[in-house]
Amino acid sequence: MLVTTDAMLKAAQKGGYAVGHFNTSDLEFTQAIIEAATELKSPVIIATSVKALEFAGTSNIAAIVRKLADEAAVPIALHLDHGPNLKWVEECLENGYTSIMLDASSKPYEENVALTKFAVELAAIKGVPVEAELGVLKGVEDDVQAAEHIYTDPAVAARFVAETGCKSLAVAIGTSHGAYKFHGSAHLDLDRLAAIRKVVHIPLVLHGASAVPQELLVTANQYGGKIMDAQGVPAEAIRAAIERGICKVNTDTDVRLAFTAAARKFYADHPADFDPRSLLAVTRAAVKAMVADRIRLFGSDGKA
Ligand code: G3H
Ligand code: 13P
Ligand code: ZN
Repeated sequence: MLVTTDAMLKAAQKGGYAVGHFNTSDLEFTQAIIEAATELKSPVIIATSVKALEFAGTSNIAAIVRKLADEAAVPIALHLDHGPNLKWVEECLENGYTSIMLDASSKPYEENVALTKFAVELAAIKGVPVEAELGVLKGVEDDVQAAEHIYTDPAVAARFVAETGCKSLAVAIGTSHGAYKFHGSAHLDLDRLAAIRKVVHIPLVLHGASAVPQELLVTANQYGGKIMDAQGVPAEAIRAAIERGICKVNTDTDVRLAFTAAARKFYADHPADFDPRSLLAVTRAAVKAMVADRIRLFGSDGKA
């Protein structure tokens, strides 16, 4: 069933686990995410970035997710990922989104507060909760390139939440989006996270959380050009972050990698097969397996 992120994240906060956020742009990723969540009896968040909305068309992808979510036996939220402005917030609300992220984290503090407040007021008309972000993840975020992390300050975070009324908060504690991961060992500032948890009482969100499994990189690289040389966030670090208050974990890079490794291997193994459905059945299964692994890691299996 289609639900907002409100109750599912509060339950995660109380239960000491996290709900997985997975990005989609199409039917097959959406099916893979919902099938994995259904088999594991887990709540799940299906997210679209602005690039995904431009690729698929907002009303098209929203209709696909809403239909499949309505028919599903587990709670599913449809979420705008890194909404850059109120235009996209409005468009998603009009298309039945049940969760919104307004990300003005690259803007000055006062501007971030003002934009987030507007989004909270707009979304509240439809009973939809808003995730906001404070701090900047190193690498590429919303087409903004940051050379260094700007870690979330606990005291400022408490003030920000009080001033904006956001229902969940994405924090910068050392992760990075996409291919701009750690080179060397991952370092999450877990003490900072614990300090934020002490003064911020709403669910906390971890972006840039993909593990970048090396075996997938090896497979993808073996059957085609090199994708990237990177290390993601290890499972122990994710568990430690959840223990310290993370209630929502975002994953996009890992599902893309699962897709790409499976696609490249499929075409290498079946050079004569030109039926796209042969490929998409294999890649959908690979994405589903990745989502299932992540759900188990986050501990939300059996929580639907
Ligand atoms: O956090 C960003 C997501 O990975 C979205 O990526 O803008 O390429 O769809 P995208
Ligand atoms: P990854 O690139 O680590 O998968 O992060 C995704 C994300 O934060 C989406 O908002
Ligand atoms: Zn993100």
